[in-house]
Amino acid sequence: MTRVLITSALPYINGVKHLGNLVGSMLPADVYARFARSMGHDVLAICATDEHGTPAELAALEAGQDVATYCAEQHAIQKRLGDGFHLGWDYFGRSSSPQNRELTQAFARALWKNGHLEVRTTKQVYSNAEKRFLPDRYVIGTCPHCGYDRARGDQCENCTRVLDPTDLVNPRSALSGSTDIEIRDSAHLFLKQSQFVPRLRQWIDSHRSEWPHLVYSIANKWLEEGLHDRGITRDLSWGVPVPDDIGDGKLKGKVFYVWFDAPIEYIGATKEWADANNKGEQWRDWWQGKDVRYIEFLGKDNVPFHTVGFPVTIMGADEGWKLVDQIKGFNWLNYYGGKFSTSQKRGIFMDAALDLLPADYWRYYLMANAPESADASFTWEHFASVVNKDLADVLGNFVNRITKFCAARFEGRVPGEGAYGDEEKALIAELDRRVAELRNFFEAMEFRKALAELRAIWVAGNEYLTRAAPWTHIRTDRARAAVAVRMGLNLVHTFAHLSWPVIPATAVKIHETIQPVAGGGRAVPFPTDPMAKELDQLEGGQPIRASDVLFAKIADEQVAEWKARFGGD
Ligand code: 2FM
Ligand code: ZN
Repeated sequence: MTRVLITSALPYINGVKHLGNLVGSMLPADVYARFARSMGHDVLAICATDEHGTPAELAALEAGQDVATYCAEQHAIQKRLGDGFHLGWDYFGRSSSPQNRELTQAFARALWKNGHLEVRTTKQVYSNAEKRFLPDRYVIGTCPHCGYDRARGDQCENCTRVLDPTDLVNPRSALSGSTDIEIRDSAHLFLKQSQFVPRLRQWIDSHRSEWPHLVYSIANKWLEEGLHDRGITRDLSWGVPVPDDIGDGKLKGKVFYVWFDAPIEYIGATKEWADANNKGEQWRDWWQGKDVRYIEFLGKDNVPFHTVGFPVTIMGADEGWKLVDQIKGFNWLNYYGGKFSTSQKRGIFMDAALDLLPADYWRYYLMANAPESADASFTWEHFASVVNKDLADVLGNFVNRITKFCAARFEGRVPGEGAYGDEEKALIAELDRRVAELRNFFEAMEFRKALAELRAIWVAGNEYLTRAAPWTHIRTDRARAAVAVRMGLNLVHTFAHLSWPVIPATAVKIHETIQPVAGGGRAVPFPTDPMAKELDQLEGGQPIRASDVLFAKIADEQVAEWKARFGGD
């Protein structure tokens, strides 16, 4: 048994996440965590809301709430939606937790003590109207290069040039429009990342063959373009305060930059988990123990922070915290070829998705079409066709027809008569091969391939049943029909085992047509026995239950209605 530590990128607190966010980290992390659990590994799955920074402050302002109340509410909403999607985290923490505050300050102290931090004076925009400093992107003005009059202080959206707020002509506050702004000197802490280039180079290259190409190439490009020292504090009130003993007293009232404290919350949330569950110092062992494999799930925009930013924090602190072993990065899921957009209400968000259909419909579709090697696109037409074919016709129909037939013709008991013949042996051989493939794809986190294999296994079961045709043989040769029904029911049982990481609620339902799930469903074990044993384990005479319809088909009218409601063309 291996210990596997799994984190998914922390969703920002400001608003419900869309399906692209879900499939880009939280959902695959859960599928993999479930698979690892079903293989008998000791798994700790951690996530949290990413709560600091200006966007959180502004969202609270817009909602008319103080930021702490806003974050507490939004955290509860995201937790409830995660539960709704069966995201089986061991803990869903908050980056604003006391645990993270303490850890973030401790990391900064270690970096300071080790000489990796430096105080530098920077020029910041101060708004007299708002009585606060404005982050670069909240200063707008005319681009000196192209004349665009709503260019942001960090970058011009129109000509894409990177800017400094002082470059802007007629600068003003994006919050109030006030032009009563001035440039003030402000001291900030800088992490001397440039010193870490050789160590990072060596570490990143040591993972070259292990990491997905997407991840390695982004990390490599980042390094090749040259690492700049990074400002890790901000002039804001909402965040982890910089402690007095860092920065020679020049940093009073400042907080750490959200991207400094957010990854530390992976550790912080582990401590929250330990504190909430009486696990004492176990959180530390997950992060400093020797026999842990640590895997991160994240979208491609997060790769630099996880291959450079956070590793530098860990290396520089030099306290034996674990560096990541494997990083599973994802491309974008688009909506009809364009972006999901929160502000334009384009696309589908986690709350709306669950109002329409149960989680497993989404889980299956999203994982079968995960944006792994390239961006992927969500369309209602494609979604409906996958649900109708794979889930309703192939899996649902199989479970339904064999359990119903057994109930009608064999008194709802597994028929014990007759022995498996050539037809069954051929199926067993095919499934030995396919289940091994499925396990390999899950292990390699190749989710699209894993789901194609899972589907192929369901299809093989259907084809077997069509050939074995118990409904025909029952009239002339009851023993022959009995063998087909027994195999069919064994297949139902096995499908539940194999499908649990992806569609856990349905897998439990399927399993319960045959027998209760051992251990209350915390993990449905992935089959490790040869298929000859796995597919011949039901006792003759054992009662089963006929299954209800597992998946309802999506009608064309629903597709049309949802398209109209959620946008898409
Ligand atoms: O991109 C994002 O959604 C960030 N909130 C991810 C943070 S991941 C981690 F480092 F905390
Ligand atoms: Zn411009």
